[in-house]
Amino acid sequence: MSDDLKGLRRELLAGVSAASDLAGLEQVRVDVLGRKGRITDLMKGLGALAPEARREQGQALNRLKDEVAGAIEGRKAELGRAELDRRLASERIDVTLPVRPETEGRIHPVSQTIDELVAIFGAMGFSVAEGPDIEDDWYNFGALNIPPEHPARQEMDTFYLDTEVDGRRPVLRTHTSPVQIRTMQNVKPPIRIIAPGRTYRSDSDATHSPMFHQVEGLAIGEKIHMGHLKGCLIEFCRAFFDVADLPVRFRASYFPFVEPGAEVDIGCSRAGGELKIGAGGDWLEILGCGMVHPKVLANCGIDPERWQGFAFGMGIERIAMLKYGIPDLRTFYESDMRWLRHYGFAPLDVPSLTGGLAR
Ligand code: DAH
Repeated sequence: MSDDLKGLRRELLAGVSAASDLAGLEQVRVDVLGRKGRITDLMKGLGALAPEARREQGQALNRLKDEVAGAIEGRKAELGRAELDRRLASERIDVTLPVRPETEGRIHPVSQTIDELVAIFGAMGFSVAEGPDIEDDWYNFGALNIPPEHPARQEMDTFYLDTEVDGRRPVLRTHTSPVQIRTMQNVKPPIRIIAPGRTYRSDSDATHSPMFHQVEGLAIGEKIHMGHLKGCLIEFCRAFFDVADLPVRFRASYFPFVEPGAEVDIGCSRAGGELKIGAGGDWLEILGCGMVHPKVLANCGIDPERWQGFAFGMGIERIAMLKYGIPDLRTFYESDMRWLRHYGFAPLDVPSLTGGLAR
């Protein structure tokens, strides 16, 4: 290679590595290899040389051209990477920063309470099951060991729908217990579910609403006994009300679908007319429970000689009112924005056992 070309080579390669961005590099390429570029010009001059010199110079120029083109490609890749690094650095966001609680909307206490129930029972291995609001008489009553003339039917203030052509009369479910039946019919034991949802009864005053929510729980296994029922529900009460030493008592009671059946009371005090959950000498009933009646298991095709388990049910508005000090049930359904702003929850405050259940 002639000294001239060596000098040119040094100059061009220096130009390539000096290009500090993709636009600058492109300019270098045009200046060197473009239609009017330095190397292109030299190529054009080849015709004026003697054949021998032309061949030599031509080969040298071709090599130089390839070398510079290769250097440009290399620099291009380098600049591309640097450009990407710069963008990544400038567009960086800190995903660990807390979210600003600036949203206008609020989560309704019923939804919040359901999320809390799911968090607590989820951690105990329960999954969520669902069933329809419009139920067959059989699921709402019959399968649950409540035969047609049973007094429990009158107590439930049932909303009946029009009789179907096949003679069956659907009802608006009066409790979430029919989801037990549907689950046991469809899932092979062992079973561990909770079923939150809407329920309906023809009743309305400060503590009753024609539509309200319940959560049902069901655990079926080969060795599940009353001790598991007690442990599970004591744990639930203490986690939900966030009182580690909350007194919990089981009082024998009757529900047709369990044997034995019990009602659960939690400790409270009513000193000075103000209700406070926790040790205080008084009791407050919050839920019903029991060991699933063998007839109910058999109604779902589950062998009561082999399987047994417990069930429980409670009112969601009721436990929400107790936990969050909401005095009147009817206000839950009034869609009053001032009420929701006061009693509602920030949307991103998703309840979890580790992050906290309450605000
Ligand atoms: N279904 C009952 C009600 O609506 C609540 C209930 C009580 C559910 C005892 C249960 C249970 O699963 O074992 O009043």
